Amino acid sequence: MEPLLQAACDLAVRYRTGEPDRAPRAAATGQDAYALFAGPVPEAGEDALATLTALAEAAGPGLHDTTGDRFFGWVIGASHPVGVAADWLTSAWGQNPGLHFVGPAGVAAEKVAGDWLLDLLDLPREASVGFVTGATMANFTGLAAGRSEVLRRAGWDVEADGLQGAPRMRVLLGEAAHSTVFAALRYLGFGRSQIETVAADAQGAMDARDLGRRLADGGPALVIAQAGQINTGAFDPFEEIAAHCRRAGAWLHVDGAFGLWARACPDRYRLTRGLELADSWASDAHKWLQAPYESGFVIVRDRTAHRRAMSISASYLPSQDWCHNPSDFSPELSRRARGFAIWALLRHLGRDGIADMVSRHCALARRIGARLGKAPGIAVLNEVVLNQVVLAFGEGAGADRLTRAVIEEVQRRNAVFVEGARWQGREVLRISVISAPLDSRSADRLCDEILAAWQTVQARQSAAIPAQ
Ligand SMILES: Cc1ncc(COP(=O)(O)O)c(C=O)c1O
Repeated sequence: MEPLLQAACDLAVRYRTGEPDRAPRAAATGQDAYALFAGPVPEAGEDALATLTALAEAAGPGLHDTTGDRFFGWVIGASHPVGVAADWLTSAWGQNPGLHFVGPAGVAAEKVAGDWLLDLLDLPREASVGFVTGATMANFTGLAAGRSEVLRRAGWDVEADGLQGAPRMRVLLGEAAHSTVFAALRYLGFGRSQIETVAADAQGAMDARDLGRRLADGGPALVIAQAGQINTGAFDPFEEIAAHCRRAGAWLHVDGAFGLWARACPDRYRLTRGLELADSWASDAHKWLQAPYESGFVIVRDRTAHRRAMSISASYLPSQDWCHNPSDFSPELSRRARGFAIWALLRHLGRDGIADMVSRHCALARRIGARLGKAPGIAVLNEVVLNQVVLAFGEGAGADRLTRAVIEEVQRRNAVFVEGARWQGREVLRISVISAPLDSRSADRLCDEILAAWQTVQARQSAAIPAQ
């Protein structure tokens, strides 16, 4: 065993310390990467070290460098070394934290990490916390608790009687909600045509007045607000939204996959004002806390509703009277002991370290937005309130094509990593500043690369247009 684990450690160290010179984009396409793994079902086994070496060789070309200081794609944390080290131990220990008597240490770490998260994010200290794979499942879990409670108040026991024949329940969410919320709702029995989308402004923040008008129609309702829109980083107006929900008796859930972390940062806290009035919240530790994947968490004010929606019982699993059984608060029974890495990261970074990191990333986003926004032909389409910057290039009918061309040119140069999206009917270049190692040097390099790519695209365009 020892040479094998040591070899894995050596490979990991070599990978992580090789970052400065590594191009951020994977050399292999998805298809190439597939070819490196594919083959017939292994019939005879293989030596352990040989298997590990084969794994590293197969994976290498298909790895994007998400942990280095050149990565601005999507909203992806950097798998912090302390989280990685804690995660190695988690794997080595092989604990199952579903139940206190099955994995006492894993459960204890989750309980303490949960309490720390409530404190750091300044959410109700008596709320329950469930650890899940990511924000998709955190949304699922919070919404399951909401569905249970809203229907219970309408005289229906969804855990006993399911959804068929249940009172009609309304689901309302902003039109710029993340796609995974629609997925979570689908898993809970709410199809797209049953969801009412509430208008949003140009930043993607929900129009609270539109929500108020819709809720005035009455009926049991679940409302989903958002902290941190995936493109713009915008925050919904929670105080007004919460007031409408309170009047209507609706359950308010907040998807804060990355934006919830603004509450851990004194200079961003104001963006979240009123968010604490919600009933449930979803977030990711594998985003702004930099935990290794898979690590999300859900917080529910009403722990009875949370437990009712999630608890699993079986005759061979004695119930616990000690504080809490994690399987009562997440969709799985057996799973990874996520609390170890979260506990270690919270301890290592501390309140100040988390606040500094979030604040630094937001300041870098403002720096990038300010510099690129001054360049001729580049438009910053969002108010840079958090870590996101949305860019469009050129004007008029050809702008989408030019923006796409700039993204492709940045990718071809492969000195920084960015990607695109469609936002408000336009092609855009998205920048996410959330990876722990990013600093002013990396932000400046990003700007240099985007400006150089824009120059190349413009030069190509001028060359293609014949002189008059
Ligand atoms: C706002 C928002 N909600 C939900 C999700 C889904 O999170 P995960 O991929 O961790 O499940 C994301 C992912 O980026 C997000 O940004």
